[in-house]
Amino acid sequence: MPAAAAILLGYLLGSIPFGVLLTRIAGAGDLRQIGSGNIGATNVLRTGRKGLAAATLLLDLAKGAAAVLLADWLFPGTAVLAGMGAFLGHCYPVWLRFRGGKGVATLMGIVVALHWPSGLVYAAVWLGLLAALRISSLAGISAAISAPVSAAFWGRIDLVLLLLALALIVLWKHRENIDRLLSGTEPRIGSTHG
Ligand code: G3P
Repeated sequence: MPAAAAILLGYLLGSIPFGVLLTRIAGAGDLRQIGSGNIGATNVLRTGRKGLAAATLLLDLAKGAAAVLLADWLFPGTAVLAGMGAFLGHCYPVWLRFRGGKGVATLMGIVVALHWPSGLVYAAVWLGLLAALRISSLAGISAAISAPVSAAFWGRIDLVLLLLALALIVLWKHRENIDRLLSGTEPRIGSTHG
């Protein structure tokens, strides 16, 4: 039962749609009707509210890390399952009819909490590419792919399969972004969504 409890705890934490909630509380409208319609920080930025976007980023990240740490404390040995639950909760939240986010920030929190060296690489790839290219999707996809590679590099074979599966879900969630990247029409941070 601890395994099921960890997955449920992770899912419930991960499914809190901070972007939607903060945007609504701030009176900035329904995030799902704005820009790409995604519930993540990149789309919150399209409301013009930088503070709100930063808060969404931090909270989406924190809920992933919190799920892992909390589950490991309450039900030792279930950290990986709780991380999986949190990721699925963010990407497929029951409260939004399973139409959730693309997983990049929450996955970073999960990776940091599961294996901080891989989390450090994740952050470096994400922030480095974001600063260099200013294309959020490309930076996020690259960071997600770095996670299973880093885990394998450090010999954390126990994490590779999960991180590979989650990176594939990140790719799937970004399929429209990938189409735009390939056709050269993916908007950069700061420009309006095409
Ligand atoms: O993490 C989401 C980001 O990679 C892309 O967001 O709104 O441009 O589709 P968006």
